[in-house]
Parts: sequence; C-alpha cells; structure tokens
Amino acid sequence: MDTLERLEYLKKLRAEAKLGGGQKRIDKLHSQGRMTARERIDLLLDQGSFEEFDMFKTHRCADFGMDKQKYPGDGVVTGHGTIDGRIVYVFAQDFTVLGGSLSETFAEKICKIMDLAMKNGAPVIGLNDSGGARIQEGIESLAGYTDIFLRNVMSSGVIPQISAIFGPCAGGAVYSPALTDFVVMVKNNSYMFLTGPKVVKSVTHEDVTVEELGGADMHSSRSGVSDFAADTGADAIAYVRRLVSYLPQNNMENPPVIACSDPIERRDEKLNTFVPVNPNEAYDMKEIILSTVDNGDFFEIKEAFAPNIIIGYARYNGMSVGIVANQPAHNSGVLDIDSSIKGARFVRFCDCFNIPVVTFVDVPGFLPGTAQEYGGVIRNGAKILYAYAEATIPKVTVITRKAYGGAYCVMSSKHLRGDINYAWPTAEIAVMGAKGAVEILYGRQAKDKDDPAQYLQEREQEYQDTVANPYVAAQRGYIDDIIEPARTRIRIIKALQIVENKRDTNPMKKHGNIPL
Ligand code: HXC
Repeated sequence: MDTLERLEYLKKLRAEAKLGGGQKRIDKLHSQGRMTARERIDLLLDQGSFEEFDMFKTHRCADFGMDKQKYPGDGVVTGHGTIDGRIVYVFAQDFTVLGGSLSETFAEKICKIMDLAMKNGAPVIGLNDSGGARIQEGIESLAGYTDIFLRNVMSSGVIPQISAIFGPCAGGAVYSPALTDFVVMVKNNSYMFLTGPKVVKSVTHEDVTVEELGGADMHSSRSGVSDFAADTGADAIAYVRRLVSYLPQNNMENPPVIACSDPIERRDEKLNTFVPVNPNEAYDMKEIILSTVDNGDFFEIKEAFAPNIIIGYARYNGMSVGIVANQPAHNSGVLDIDSSIKGARFVRFCDCFNIPVVTFVDVPGFLPGTAQEYGGVIRNGAKILYAYAEATIPKVTVITRKAYGGAYCVMSSKHLRGDINYAWPTAEIAVMGAKGAVEILYGRQAKDKDDPAQYLQEREQEYQDTVANPYVAAQRGYIDDIIEPARTRIRIIKALQIVENKRDTNPMKKHGNIPL
C-alpha cells in the first residue's frame, strides 16, 4: 500500500468503527427515539471539538462465541472535547454493541480518560446506555467496573463528574453514575435499576414496570437518585452543558465568572411587601431568588425531589454561586430527612469546588413525627448541619421570615461559620413559633383566666414583639444587618465581594465522619 492507500484504509476502518453494532441496530435505536453514542457526543461538545481515543480497541474474550463478535471500539466511545471552549473528557456507551455492556477492555477505555481527566484537572462526563456487566466475560467485567468505581471515588471532590442516563441501565451501569456528582435522566426513555422487573418478580414477587421501578420521574421525585428528568435526550445534554458552565474545572480553580449585564444596584420594590403579614401564609421563595440573581436566571437542581428545599446555581454580578433556600410554598419549608440530605449534598459539592453558597432562610423547624423519627431524622438532619459547619467556602445568608429552633442553627447560621448573615425586618428568629411557645409557657395559667383565649393572644403578641423578630439576634451580632428587602441583590453582591478571597481551614484529619 502506498501512503495514500494507507490513509484510505484508515478512513475505511474509522467508518466501520463508527457504525458500532451495525446500521440495523442504529435504526432500532432511532425508532425508539434514542440517539447513538456519537450523536450524543456531537450534541454535547462544541462543534468539531471531539477527538477520539481507542477507536480500534477490541475485547479479548473467546467464550460463548465472543471471538466471532468483535466490534472496533468495543461498545464505548471515549475521548475529549470542549464545552464553551473548556476541556472535558467524555465517554459514551454504545447500546448497539452488545447492549453497551461493559467488558474488561470497555472499562480500560473509560479508566484511561478518567486518569487523564484527574491528572489534568478537567471534568468527566459519562453518557450511559448500558445493560451492565458483559455477561459473557464474568469476573473480567466485574473487575472492570470496580476499577471505574475506584476512580469515581478518587476523583470525587477533585474534578466534577457528571452522568447522563439514556437507555435502560442496570447493575454496575448505575453504581458508577451514583458515585458521580450529578445524574441526569430522560423521561420515558431512560431507566436505572440494580435488577430489572423480571428479577424483581422472581425475588420479591412484585409486579412492576420499568418506568415504576427505575424511570426518570421516579428517580427525580422519589428516590433522589437523579437530579433532572429531561423531556428528550437533547434536553438532557443541554442540561449537562448548562451545568458545566457554573463549575470550575477542578478543586484548585475558582468557578468561572462571566460579564454581568444586569445592574448590580437593581432594586426590587416588590420585595419590601413580599412576605405575608400572617406567619402561616405561604409564599414562593423562588420569586425572591429570581428577583435577586443576575437576569432572573436560576438553574434549579432536584426540583421535584424534596421541594421544601430549593437548590441550584445562579450568578451574582457574573459570579457563579450555589443557592440553598427553604421553600415556604411546600410543607411550610420544613426540614425533613429528604430535604436535609438534598441540601447537605449540594453544600458539600459547592464546598469541594470553591463555589460560594447563598442561603435564603424561612424554616419553621424540623418535621416532627414517627415517620421522620423512625426514618432517622436525627441522623439525616444532622447531615445538613455537618455540611454547613465543615464548609469553608464563602457563605452568605438572608433570613426572610422564620428561623426557628434547630433549623435556625443549621441553615448557615453565624455559629456554623456563616460569613455574612442578613435578616429582613420580617424575620422571626426564635426557639419556636409564638403560638407553640405561648402554649408551653402560659397554657396552664390561661386556664385560670376569665378569657383564656384573649390571655393567650396577648401573650402571643408579647412573645412576637419581644423575641420573634430579628432585633435580638442583631443585638448579639448573630445577624450582621437588618436589610431593606428591595436592596437584597446589591447587599448579597457586596457580601460576596468582601468574602471573595476568604481563606478558612478545618483541623488536619484524614476525613471527617459525616452521619451517613
Ligand atoms: C451482554 C447484553 C447485556 C449484558 C444486553 N445485552 N445486556 N450482552 N451482557 N449485560 C445484549 C442483548 O443480548 C442484545 O444483543 C442487546 O444487548 C440488546 O439487548 P435487548 O435485551 O434486546 O434490549 P432491551 O429489550 O432494550 O433490554 C435491555 C436490558 C436487557 C433491560 C438492559 O438487555 C437486560 O436486562 N440485560 C441484562 C441486564 C443485567 O442484568 N446486567 C448484568 C447486571 S450485573 P443482540 O445481539 O440481540 O443485539 C452487573 C454486575 C456489576 O452489572 C455490579 C457491580 C456493583
């Protein structure tokens, strides 16, 4: 072969490799509304930026006729490219090749890019579409998975790891995503379970559909495994691209800052009368978030799971920040097991990657009751406390209304190294709500009064005026200032600016022991 013929030969091999498991299987995937691995990569990365590795790598298995079933690339497309000009490493599992199942060589390809990403400090994005361990390989595929799991854990807190789930993912194919920082699924088209409905039926005798067992809606609202349920594969990929825009490349960098087109001094008069006079009346905390962040642009995460707490990313004066907020519009914004875990994991992620956290507080306390106690609300509620306490990132807090009891302590209070803590004039910072407090303090005396209801109402007012306001906390210095709500945006921006170069440390230790 002359030089040009050699080049033609290479092109031919590449074209063959790009067909994965063949046109028939690609057509089947398309008929199911699914993209191929390469189509997903093309959508994810900046146009023309993808460069592939190990396109010709094949498996080494000879059992069960596998010596006659070799596909160049062996069912996973790996390489690197850019998102908005920033380097990312990527792997995309190809369901057309043996169901995207993981072989020893398939795992080696993923490990190669994970190692490169770690050494060079760039995110890893996994596009998952796999039936799990390749059954024909046995122990080799289990070893391969475990090599990936180890790298997931070693990379945790060093580089961002993001997983998108496209097809039916089972077994090992779900544990690796579970070890990553964010999981994105596609409604009615992607599934995650340890074992499928048939195995469930044989073990527990339950009849369950794939959708009920491991669909995107279930994992995004009930189990909390998924952070987002996209309508289509393309939406899932757009979500990943947007997520990456808020994150630094690794734990040694600060998050990206972009030019801000929204005036930093922008006031919002609506906020001055936003909190209802009646403390039992709900309002939507998202409106406060949207009003204060740049261009009303808020990227919410885990929207459907534990909606009594809101988490997500936004920018203030172009700076990327994590937002945590109690949501009075859902169960009064109460803290419970799920919302504590949701908030804690998010704060810890932000802390890993130097992303400041702004916390909006309106919380009546932790949810009482047997369901919560039996579920371990003590241990799980402690997670959010632990997360805020250990976090050394800049922490800015705004209490809009209730900050009662343990929930006051937990929600980025001064005592947990909150840097700048503000309250609105409508804030009520107390051990508990006025009604509950008065019943405990004066319930017995009230019975002796001519008009017990009137007596209790007066005491309630007295408690409200004396204790349930922001002034007592401000007198102690636990609140740095009581701010005009209309000026919340500029006060947050200035607070973030003055703590931008914050350096804080925790005592030397191998690692802490968060109550898992
Ligand atoms: C080898 C596999 C495979 C696997 C699917 N295929 N899963 N090949 N190993 N694990 C192949 C099929 O034989 C088929 O080949 C092609 O992929 C498409 O599969 P279908 O079954 O036709 O597709 P579909 O009906 O969409 O069902 C997809 C599925 C199902 C739900 C993923 O295939 C399935 O249940 N697979 C097994 C899942 C599983 O139990 N995995 C092992 C988990 S244990 P052809 O040639 O017909 O195209 C595990 C251990 C690690 O992962 C644990 C670590 C903690």
